[in-house]
Amino acid sequence: MKIDPIFPPRPTALVQNILRAVIRSGALVIDATAGNGHDTAFLADCVGPSGRVLAFDIQEEALASARTRVSEMGWVEFHHQSHTEMHLHATLESAALVMFNLGYLPGENHDLTTQSASTLVALKIATTLLMPGGILSVICYPGHPAGATEAVEVEAWMTMLSEEGWRITKYGAIGTRRPAPFLLLAAKSLADQSPTATTP
Ligand SMILES: C[S@@+](CC[C@H](N)C(=O)[O-])C[C@H]1O[C@@H](n2cnc3c(N)ncnc32)[C@H](O)[C@@H]1O
Repeated sequence: MKIDPIFPPRPTALVQNILRAVIRSGALVIDATAGNGHDTAFLADCVGPSGRVLAFDIQEEALASARTRVSEMGWVEFHHQSHTEMHLHATLESAALVMFNLGYLPGENHDLTTQSASTLVALKIATTLLMPGGILSVICYPGHPAGATEAVEVEAWMTMLSEEGWRITKYGAIGTRRPAPFLLLAAKSLADQSPTATTP
C-alpha cells in the first residue's frame, strides 16, 4: 500500500475530493473567496463549459492570479466585489454549491482576511442562492486571532442551520499544537423550510 505523505488530507484537498463526486457538469457554482484561484479552477473543471462559475474577491491581485489559472475557461465570471454582493449576480435557489475558503492569502497581507461580520452576512445570502439539496462549504482557520473568532461564530451559525432541516458535518485534524483548520459542509434540505430563505 502506498501512503500519501499528506494523509489524512487537509481540508482544502478533502473538500475537493468530496465535491468532485457530487458537482455535475452544467451547474452554477459560486466561489465566494477566489484567492489565487485553486478552488475556482477546480470548480470550473467540475461544471465544464456548459456550467457557470461566479468567483468573488476583494483583492485585485488575487483576482489577477486566479484569472491566469483559468484563462482558457470562459465560463468563469470574476467579480472584484465582496461576497456580500453575490446576490447581485445569481437568482434565488439557482446555485448547486457556494464555497468559502476563509482567511487570507498565504504569504500576503494578513489584514486582508475575511471578517466574521461580513462572512456571516454572505453565508446567509448563500443559503438563499442555493437550490434545495445544494451545498454550502466553508473552511475555517482558527489558528490566527481574527480566524479564531470567525471560526467560532461560523460554526455556531451553521449548527443552527440543522434546526432548519440542513444536514451539517465538520472535518478537521485533532491533537495539533495550534487549532487546525476545519471544513464545514452543509446540505440544504430538499423541501426548503428555512426562514432565512428570503431576499437579503
Ligand atoms: C484563503 S484565501 C482563498 C483561497 C482560494 N480559494 C484559492 O483557492 O486560492 C481567502 C481569500 O478571501 C478573500 N476575501 C477576504 N474578504 C473577502 C470578502 N469580503 N469577499 C470576498 N473575498 C474576500 C481574500 O482576499 C483572500 O484572497
